[in-house]
Formats: sequence, structure tokens, C-alpha cells
Amino acid sequence: MTPLNEDAGRKRSPADFFFGKVIGEGSFSTVYLAKDVHTSREFAIKVLEKAHIIREKKTEYVMREKEVLRILGSSCSYFVHLYSTFQDRERLYFVLTYAKNGELLKHINHHKKFNFECTRYYAAELVLALEYLRSKGIVHRDLKPENILFDENFHLLVTDFGSAKIERSEEAGDDAEKSLQRRRSFVGTAQFVSPEMLKDSTSSYPSDLWALGCIVFQMAAGEMPFTGPTDYLIFAKVENLDYVFPDGFDERVKDFVEKLLVLEPNRRLGALDAVPYTSLREHQIFAGLDWDDLGPPPKLSDASYIIEEPGGAVPDHMEPGLDSEKVSKLVLTDMIPALKKSEPGRKITDLSPEEIEKRLLLQATNAYNDFVGGHLILKQGLLDKRKGLFPRRRMFLLTLGPHLYYVDPVTMTLKGEIPWSEDLKTEARNFKTFFVHTPKRKYYLEDPEGYAPEWCKAIEQVKEHYFPPGQKLA
Ligand code: ADE
Repeated sequence: MTPLNEDAGRKRSPADFFFGKVIGEGSFSTVYLAKDVHTSREFAIKVLEKAHIIREKKTEYVMREKEVLRILGSSCSYFVHLYSTFQDRERLYFVLTYAKNGELLKHINHHKKFNFECTRYYAAELVLALEYLRSKGIVHRDLKPENILFDENFHLLVTDFGSAKIERSEEAGDDAEKSLQRRRSFVGTAQFVSPEMLKDSTSSYPSDLWALGCIVFQMAAGEMPFTGPTDYLIFAKVENLDYVFPDGFDERVKDFVEKLLVLEPNRRLGALDAVPYTSLREHQIFAGLDWDDLGPPPKLSDASYIIEEPGGAVPDHMEPGLDSEKVSKLVLTDMIPALKKSEPGRKITDLSPEEIEKRLLLQATNAYNDFVGGHLILKQGLLDKRKGLFPRRRMFLLTLGPHLYYVDPVTMTLKGEIPWSEDLKTEARNFKTFFVHTPKRKYYLEDPEGYAPEWCKAIEQVKEHYFPPGQKLA
């Protein structure tokens, strides 16, 4: 497994991450956007409740997902990467690549449909992903636009191997392969399920080719080929190959889809390739494409609907780890406007007594509350405090009082406080670095997120509140 950082030998724990918003939910897991406490790097952390997994007898699926992600490793860029796994008493945690631009589904829906250039480009990325899966002996079995994500550069990342099957394992050998051949209960999603799965509960590599046909149809048409009010009616359509191309559907894409949406698995394009998937590569929709370098993705017509949250979506007022309080706090943060981004022009000290009271109540669930002596936290975030050669990452807590506390977020101990006086001054050197000057010492601070000027502004506002200008004592 590719290490998270240089001290990757150490087993991670929930306390190594700040958990932010929920970015994905399945029947057996919740995916959180999380930030490494030490490096500020963002990850998607899939959290599974052990009791639920055991109760629902899904242990095998969880183990398989982990094994598949291990087999996939990091040498193909079209898959989310599993960086590490760990557990606590109640939960299992999978630390995965964070796909910044979300699900393919969102982008298809936003654009209504993809043009030919985008359709063929992403079809090509999927072909390369399927080739890699095939080379590793893995069938995904639940490919669909919700399980295909976009990274920060709009390349595809296939995720969710909870339904995957290891068809051929280099380590396990043939016996294990046979034991996995037994029939299984339904896996997958009705609209993308293959006819063989419905007919005799079997699935293999061609089942992913069927799903590819469905996804390419959906990219080009903006709708799924097989839909219906109930799963039963969708299944009937799949079994009868009952779908229609909408008017104006590109003829080249139509030919590609027709060659994949074939009832007999082995007759699907590519299914019997001696070198998978040369026959897909050679299809006319990919004419002129350089398979060794697909180049940058074509522009999806506008990307203005992709809302980037400034400073990332992991709020700074969070403590590391994930506990039952975290869930309610995430919800509360969304609900209470006072905790949302400040309005322009409004100072962080502009608070009514009612607002202070309300926020103090909420603050009771913040793990750093124990360090601030009952004062209201106005701003909170991780900063690197440099003393001598080595920076130390600390959680800084700017509070009413005024106080500016700093806490070691790993050991959760109060390390100190920058002493306030009317002579305290800030100095932003650039977006990352700033100084806090006190009569006795200069504090050298770095904001890894690049919000040093915001820190200076907040500290200056607090100073102005407690030491109004023009009132300096002689
Ligand atoms: N939703 C589910 N998994 C995700 C991931 N790895 N990145 C972004 N969003 C996700």
C-alpha cells in the first residue's frame, strides 16, 4: 500500500483525521471527507459500523472490498486508492482517494448529456479501467455513474468494490477460484444489472462490459437505457433487451452500445478478446485516439456548477476523530447560520449575547472546549508553529476574553497561549506565513491552507474589540 507519508509504518487511528461532511452513503457505509491532521491532505474515509456488518452478514463483502483494493494497488490511475485501513471498537475505516469533482452522474445530469467528444473520452478511460480490472482478475459487478467519480483534473476514478468478485487471484490459485464460482444472490443495481445475473445468478468479466454499454448510453443520451417504476419491470426490460435510442443519438456511439448490450455474455464486444480489450479499442468511436496518452479531458461545457468551498469542506472547528457527537455536530453546523461563513463586513466579535449563548451551547460538543476556560471560540484552525528549526502543528483557538490558545491535536494537551496586550501585533508575510508580535516574543506561524491574512484580520478584530484604538494608555 502506498504510504500516507513518511511515518506510514505507524498504524493510523481516527484521531489522525478531521472528519468533515458526508460525501457518500451506502447501505453499509458512510463516506466522509476527511483531512489528515498532520499533512492537511484530504481523503475520503469510508466508515463501516461493525455491528451492522455482522448483523447483516456482510463481513465477506467488506473483506473482499479491502482485498480488491489491495490487489488494484496504485499503478492504475483510474481507481480510488486505498491508503490505509484501521479500526476502533465500533467501526472499520478505509482511507481512500478523495475524488474532488464528485460523481459522473452529477455531471451527466447537469449537462443533460455529454457531447460526442466527452462521451468517447470517458468511454476510453472506462475501457482502460476495465482492461486493468481484467488483467487483475477482478469483476466490479456494480459499475454505474454513481460509482464513477471525477478527480481534481476530471479524470475518472472507479470506486465501490463492495460487490466485486475476484475471478482469478494470483495468490489464491485455482481452488479459491472454484469456491468463488458458486451462485450468489443478486448483486448490483437494477438499471445496470446484466441479463446473466438475472437469468442464472452468474456474473463474470462480460457483466462489466454490459454495464459499460449502459453507462455509455447514459452519457450520450442523458438517460439510462433500462428504466421502469419497479425493479421487476426493469428486469423484464433487461431480459428482453427492450430499450430504444432517443432521436439524434450519434450513430457511432449507437453501434458501440449495440455491440455491448448483447444478451449472450460471450458475444459482447471484447468478451473473447485474446488481448482484452483490443476490439473495444479498435471501435470507430475511438478513431484517432492515442491509447498510450489520451491527453487532457475535453471540457465539459461549463464547470460553474461545481461549487468549491473556500478553505475546503472540512471545517476548522472540528476535532480529530469520529464519534457519535460528530454526526450531530455536522448537522448542527449546517443549520446554525452563526457558525457558517461570516458575512462580509461583519466582524467576528459582532455577536449579540443571545448568539454568544447559543454558540457556547454548541461549543460544548467541541473537544477543544476543555482548553478554553469557558470562553467562546471565535476562530479555530491548525497552524504550524515554528520554534527553532522544526514546525509543530497546533490547533489554535482564538476566543473571547481575549485568548489565543494552542493545543497539540494528537496528544490533546494545551501547549500554551499567546499573551494578549494592547501591544500585540500581527504581520502577514504571505498567504501562508504570519507573525504575532508580543512585547517579549515573535511567534512565527504558518497556515498550511493559505489563510494567513484571515488569521491576522481575525486577531486584529479581537484586539480592536478589547483595546479600541485611540484609548492606549500613556
Ligand atoms: N463519494 C464516495 N466515495 C468518494 C470518494 N472517494 N471521493 C469523493 N466522493 C466520494
